[in-house]
Amino acid sequence: MWSRHVLNCAVLAPELPEGGDVADVGSGAGLPGLALAIARPDVRMLLIEPMERRVDWLSEVVADLGLDNVDIIRGRAEDVTDEVMADVVTARAVSALKKLVP
Ligand SMILES: C[S@@+](CC[C@H](N)C(=O)[O-])C[C@H]1O[C@@H](n2cnc3c(N)ncnc32)[C@H](O)[C@@H]1O
Repeated sequence: MWSRHVLNCAVLAPELPEGGDVADVGSGAGLPGLALAIARPDVRMLLIEPMERRVDWLSEVVADLGLDNVDIIRGRAEDVTDEVMADVVTARAVSALKKLVP
């Protein structure tokens, strides 16, 4: 769990810009978004996830952990491009890169 999932995500933390906005596409249960939000409290993290059950889980964890640097949008990334501005976009195990990047 730690090496394959949590640390595998947290390793990105030093690469994020100071005080930047980061959008995590397809956050699922919160990887890498929640790991990065915990590791980098100066960064504003936006979790984008379409599935209601997963969004409910993310909201519960954010509240339980008292994370005040996380926002959550329920939706597909391609449907929220007009409302999201970010310095960095992350995604893990969401889709093949050639489909994900556009
Ligand atoms: C295999 S899970 C990976 C979850 C997490 N990133 C991880 O590494 O554990 C893929 C997630 O991407 C979400 N997803 C799929 N297509 C998406 C899209 N177009 N925009 C945003 N999220 C999407 C799914 O709902 C699912 O929660």
